[in-house]
Amino acid sequence: MPNAKETVGRLCRIAGPVVVADGMRGARIGDVALVGEARLIAEIIRLEGDRATLQVYEDTIGLRFGEPVVSTAEPLMAELGPGLLAGIFDGLQRPLPEIQKQAGPFIPKGAALPALPRAMRWRFSPAVKEGERVEPGDVLGTVPETPRLTHKILVPPGVGGRVAEIRQGEFTVEETVARIERTEDLQPVEIRLMQRWPVRQGRPYRRKLSPNTPLITGQRVIDTFFPVAKGGTAVIPGGFGTGKTVMEQTLAKRAEAQIVVYVGCGERGNEMTEVLAEFPCLVDPRAGVTLMERTVLIANTSNMPVAAREASIYTSLTIAEYYRDMGCDVALMADSTSRWGEALREVSGRLEEMPGEEGYPAYLGSRLAGFYERAGRVVCLGKDNREGSVTIIGAVSPPGGDFSEPMTQSSLRAAGTFWGLDVNLARRRHFPAIHWMTSYSLYDVGGWFDAEVAADWQEQARLAMSLLQKEEELLEIVQLVGSEALPDAEKAILQVGRVVREDFLQQSAFDPVDEFCSPKKQYWMLRAILTFYRGLAEALDRGAPPAQAMALPVLSEVARMKEIPAERAEREIPALIERMREALGGLRDG
Ligand SMILES: Nc1ncnc2c1ncn2[C@@H]1O[C@H](COP(=O)(O)OP(=O)(O)OP(=O)(O)O)[C@@H](O)[C@H]1O
Ligand SMILES: [Mg+2]
Repeated sequence: MPNAKETVGRLCRIAGPVVVADGMRGARIGDVALVGEARLIAEIIRLEGDRATLQVYEDTIGLRFGEPVVSTAEPLMAELGPGLLAGIFDGLQRPLPEIQKQAGPFIPKGAALPALPRAMRWRFSPAVKEGERVEPGDVLGTVPETPRLTHKILVPPGVGGRVAEIRQGEFTVEETVARIERTEDLQPVEIRLMQRWPVRQGRPYRRKLSPNTPLITGQRVIDTFFPVAKGGTAVIPGGFGTGKTVMEQTLAKRAEAQIVVYVGCGERGNEMTEVLAEFPCLVDPRAGVTLMERTVLIANTSNMPVAAREASIYTSLTIAEYYRDMGCDVALMADSTSRWGEALREVSGRLEEMPGEEGYPAYLGSRLAGFYERAGRVVCLGKDNREGSVTIIGAVSPPGGDFSEPMTQSSLRAAGTFWGLDVNLARRRHFPAIHWMTSYSLYDVGGWFDAEVAADWQEQARLAMSLLQKEEELLEIVQLVGSEALPDAEKAILQVGRVVREDFLQQSAFDPVDEFCSPKKQYWMLRAILTFYRGLAEALDRGAPPAQAMALPVLSEVARMKEIPAERAEREIPALIERMREALGGLRDG
């Protein structure tokens, strides 16, 4: 990228996170500038003549007119390379543990610590030989970043040619590990373990694939009824205290992604603290490493500057795409995108732009669409046809739980899965409070479950959903006329609907066995409930006494299926189904 010359201007206006500087001729929109003596990080968002308007990513209190504003002549960049995993960064990708070591609990203004540790040495093993021809995305070599993840060092986008030199050994992220002689002009390009990438620009890939495999979340209501695909997008809107954060954190812990990027955007600091305390202790059951070792945390909590929420969103996306490019399945959790929306609204207001709905900028929808569009399952650059994916799961916090507000509406237009959290369910402590009547998934991943879990997975899920819908209709009637008036067959549906809700949909995020439910176990649980439903209907047809049929003792075992560990579920639930058949069959005689 050709660098414009560094420009120095003077501050002439300060309005919260938005400042204006004169004398900025030659600067470009999107460039980062350092504002004031404290060198606060800012981005130029408007240019009129030599007057630049900037959004400042740090606290602007204490800035004075006349202080210098220096354009760096480059856009906001993320550092990408080994050392990101288990990292904890602020919205500007500054390493929070390092800052704390040097400065204590508060981030000093203008702190300029690099994201990746500079002294650390990584063992680099080449994957190509000198003289070989490489193209963007080819694997030059590997670094064991964690016991689980082999970090691939790739030929950067836009670079292709002959490997003039490649080295082996231990290197810091800044040392050169290879030199590539570019095909077009024979110029040498030095390759280091670290690269930088402008965060607002999506990283290139060869082509997008349709998302057709589910991201297994271990949440029954999600996997069985409203699955999200690997490379897909999901939004979780919910009013105050309905379980957005618990869901985001549970998915960050248990969803079957190789890499998780978790961004706490404008939410309470103590929630991030919980994650920080918990993740290093929790072991990923599939890989045997701690959860931290597959996670990158971006913490831009409510006490941090508003404009940096925007930076935290794009920085996390860029990190997610970087691991996708190595061929990983990455999940990006954003809690809460509404706080980013509020930041957009505040900055737009300060810019005196024409406001759209509820004061949000008119470009809110396109900004959100652009965010969710960076999700996807792709064929990566490079000769070996690697596939990788970024799945985005964004929480939305509509004020008053009103889903008609602009953030929720714009998000749901952009996302493929909608997990609507319901205030009434949460109040009744039905968790996760994802409402089955308002939620939906547009991903066609049922075929995967049919092939990989059980041939009648989809059929079973459809039947269960139709029972829930039927139950909903019946409950309305019951409200009017009471349940006594209903025929036995409909009472049976009410009974089974309750069992589906309580014994299947409800799932505790705090129970070590129940917090993750394997697809196989989900299948068998639902099968047991549906066997009960069919057996009950048959027994009632035969004239079995309804009260007895609906209160079989074996139902208490159905209620305890959640407690059965996954590895025993495939043995114990079929046995339970047998007992249930016998019990219902035994009702023949009345
Ligand atoms: N899956 C779950 N299992 C058990 N309890 C849950 C679950 N989800 C939510 N809860 C309960 O609901 C409470 C509130 O959840 P949470 O903090 O996630 O809500 P939130 O939507 O993020 O709220 P806020 O709007 O304040 O950010 C939790 O402290 C917990 O008690
Ligand atoms: Mg929350």
